[in-house]
Amino acid sequence: MSNTLRNDRLLRALKRQPVDCTPVWLMRQAGRYLPEYRATRAKAGSFLAMAKNPEIACEVTLQPLARFDLDAAILFSDILTIPDAMGLELYFVDGEGPKFRHPVRSAADVEKLAVPDMETELRYVMDAVRVIRRELDGKVPLIGFSGSPWTLACYMVEGGGSKDFARIKAMALNDPATLHRLLSINTDSVIAYLAAQRAAGAQVLQVFDTWGGVLSPAMYREFSLPYLTRIARELPRGDIQERTPLILFGKGNAAHLEALADSGAEAIGVDWLVELSEARRRTGGKVALQGNLDPAVLYGSPEAIHEQVRNVLASYGQGSGHVFNLGHGMSPDMDPEHVGVLVDAVHALTARA
Ligand code: CP3
Repeated sequence: MSNTLRNDRLLRALKRQPVDCTPVWLMRQAGRYLPEYRATRAKAGSFLAMAKNPEIACEVTLQPLARFDLDAAILFSDILTIPDAMGLELYFVDGEGPKFRHPVRSAADVEKLAVPDMETELRYVMDAVRVIRRELDGKVPLIGFSGSPWTLACYMVEGGGSKDFARIKAMALNDPATLHRLLSINTDSVIAYLAAQRAAGAQVLQVFDTWGGVLSPAMYREFSLPYLTRIARELPRGDIQERTPLILFGKGNAAHLEALADSGAEAIGVDWLVELSEARRRTGGKVALQGNLDPAVLYGSPEAIHEQVRNVLASYGQGSGHVFNLGHGMSPDMDPEHVGVLVDAVHALTARA
């Protein structure tokens, strides 16, 4: 396996070093919008069958890279692998998203949870990382990822997706000690999970705090931020020169940019509700920034996509430290050709002579 990266734009941007052009990758770049993904999924039978088979996970990870000039691969897996390995039993109902057979509803349920073993219960994830690194052979860096402690807890307590987060918010109000206990076990699990992915070969790590933005600022400071900060402080990722960058992505995290910049993470991912110029000013050059095109821009014409890409780039402004991405994941009904337009626009509009 070659250790030399032929394309290190992402790593350079995350270290805020000069780049030949701005790196770009897209959340959910491997997924149902690609006909080749749908074909592999039909053969494998289900999403989970794909994610649990390292060779298939590798094949699907590489699919968008064969089509587009992307600057990173992201491990094909899911954030819900951790609670699944804790015994909650993940399954998917078509059109309804992820569900757990054994949600966590009480202090007794939380007491039964333990940090899963990374090389047995979650071995299929680490094997996928190893196979993908081998097959990438230094083409682009591989991003490993995890859900945030709060976002994992949302699915674990609600038993699936939610519109109002009624159960977990009730737990936060009525039994905060139990929720903190759950968040603490999740944090230990996330740290072990990301450390194991790094040991298996992941070169960048991202935490998805998809549901942090449903909390009031005060509740975010109590139930999400301290656990994100603990991950940023405690996750071993090498010495300064060779440090594996950690990206904290949060949907609706605009109220907390200063605190996130002080967390110890190398980069913050933001959604499209905040201007990158403002995010940059408020994070004061302490971190790289990732984002933040509204994913719905992919429904626009090629001309409209160009224009919106230009706006995001202009909002960030001159200088390195920007990783171009969407402000959240892609949707199944998006046109693959538009992804090519987006990726090429980012590179063309930022090419330094
Ligand atoms: O970005 C990538 O290409 C890498 C793969 C990836 C997936 N899930 C694949 C997937 C990543 C990084 C995730 C993370 C994830 N999973 C998050 C955080 C990011 C976000 O979008 O906010 C969350 C909240 C989940 C939980 C989850 N898993 C949801 C809500 C769904 C979609 C359910 C649906 O029917 O739309 C999944 C399943 C899932 N994970 C799919 C993919 C490609 C769709 C699976 C399919 O039916 O083929």
